[in-house]
Amino acid sequence: MAVTRTFSIIKPDATRRNLTGGVTKMLEEAGLRVVASKRIHLTKDQAEGFYGVHRERPFFGDLVKFMTSGPVVVQVLEGEDAVKRNRDIMGATNPANADEGTIRKVYAESIEANSVHGSDSDENAAIEIAFFFKPDEVVG
Ligand code: CMP
Repeated sequence: MAVTRTFSIIKPDATRRNLTGGVTKMLEEAGLRVVASKRIHLTKDQAEGFYGVHRERPFFGDLVKFMTSGPVVVQVLEGEDAVKRNRDIMGATNPANADEGTIRKVYAESIEANSVHGSDSDENAAIEIAFFFKPDEVVG
């Protein structure tokens, strides 16, 4: 299995509850390595651009409002089959459907305040990493 990279966001509900370390510990224990990380406050433009594929969805406005409601931690994660590994440890989008032991089962508050985002494919991981990081900011 190849070592690949994925993109992660620790969302405002998690930073508000001081869970950056708790979430990151679960990512690391799942075999992922943090090779880039920064804490930022997303602008409305950034949130709308990042979630552009969801622009027509009914929850888009609330999603942008939530993602700009407090700091987030954007990260690049590296590991074997990183996209799938990260999605497995994150759990289902809706915490009500998330498996035991996943980040969203342990920490998420709701489908919106679901503590973490993770890329859904290698292609989108590359796009999402480039949205927030310059190549020399990722140190493997
Ligand atoms: P994320 O993986 O960051 O990608 C889009 C986000 O939209 C998703 O996680 C959810 O947190 C959020 N969201 C809010 N409401 C819904 C909904 N009804 N269905 C799917 N995603 C939703």
